[in-house]
Amino acid sequence: MIIKNIGLLVGIVPEGVLRKEGRAQGETGVLENAWLEIEEGSIKDFGPMSCCPEGECVDALGGMLMPGFCDSHTHVVWAGSREGEFLDKINGLSYEEIARRGGGILNSADLLHQRDEEQLLQEALPRVQEMMDGGTVAMEIKSGYGLSREDELKMLRVIRRIKDTVPAAVIPTFLGAHAVPRGRSRFEWVDEIIDMLPEAAALADYVDVFCDDGFFTVEDTARILGAAKGLMRGKIHANELACSGGVQVGVEYGALSVDHLERAGEAEIEALRGSSTMPVMLPGSSFFLGIPYARAKEFIKSGLGIALASDYNPGSSPGGDMRFVMALGCIRMKLTPVEAFNAVTINGAYAMGISEKYGSVTRGKKAALILTKPGWNLTRIAYQYRTPFIDKVLF
Ligand code: NIG
Ligand code: FE
Repeated sequence: MIIKNIGLLVGIVPEGVLRKEGRAQGETGVLENAWLEIEEGSIKDFGPMSCCPEGECVDALGGMLMPGFCDSHTHVVWAGSREGEFLDKINGLSYEEIARRGGGILNSADLLHQRDEEQLLQEALPRVQEMMDGGTVAMEIKSGYGLSREDELKMLRVIRRIKDTVPAAVIPTFLGAHAVPRGRSRFEWVDEIIDMLPEAAALADYVDVFCDDGFFTVEDTARILGAAKGLMRGKIHANELACSGGVQVGVEYGALSVDHLERAGEAEIEALRGSSTMPVMLPGSSFFLGIPYARAKEFIKSGLGIALASDYNPGSSPGGDMRFVMALGCIRMKLTPVEAFNAVTINGAYAMGISEKYGSVTRGKKAALILTKPGWNLTRIAYQYRTPFIDKVLF
């Protein structure tokens, strides 16, 4: 199939480029007035309309064609709702205060315990559909609301079933170390997580630890990442609530990504320099919780690349709209539209370990693309951030 009359083809990246760092984060390949050919779900070729090949055509009517969003950090499998905590938050309680009262993640774990696999799947699928309708073509999904061996594995099986059901790419992550279950000691729970790693690795691609104040320590994180060596790479929740040391321990153990980073600066930038670890920032949770935004601009100025993800979850970011994430990147983190675009496409794909197949317009990659209505460009997506812009999402 050939898509012709593409007003703007954006996100063109040469083969072999798996992430964008430093100055390159602000650059992307663009072709005006273009065509693109898809064969068996992959990008076969593209070029200017002046040399458009013959064949079965779809007319883009001047719309922009761009890689779909790659959301590298979500918790979209959850049970029930935490609207009560939303009201607590409006009335002045912080995320930490709600967690200390036994709300937060433990509240979600209680609700999840009451559901069977099928019920959980049916609760999660509409959220996944909503994300795909919003242009997300690849998403990571974490466990972490199980907090017992049985329920963590139940969650991972649900994530696998989502992966088998939807056209988007789904990357499962084991987040047993999301909170300490009621009635257990932290040390004991970390021991059990370590014991579960081989079973979890049969279902998940990565392992995550909430390395932060009031949750898990650097030592816990090191133990889990050390034990997971050869089974799963890390994707660490770090520096959301405090300067936790999570970035450093993540880098030391070769984590694929360190995520959140609302409380990260020069020391974390230094730790990340020259590593294969992608810093992932989650402006949706800064927006929702009213906490600082991660200092994306400083990271990029230091020569690093950053990804942005939604963190879609019931406690700190109850929205999975990557276009809004991109807009927050521009409005609140002062990223240029191209920097934000690379953060939600190729760098997001890198943070899931799939940027060989996703995240850019490159011959041979999956044709996982967004076709916009006529007249859109990357700046306007972030600027006019509530106006529907998608014509079609291709998987
Ligand atoms: O990424 N920070 C830890 N985990 C989630 C929140 C989970 C929840 O509150 O349910 C996050 O913000
Ligand atoms: Fe998270």
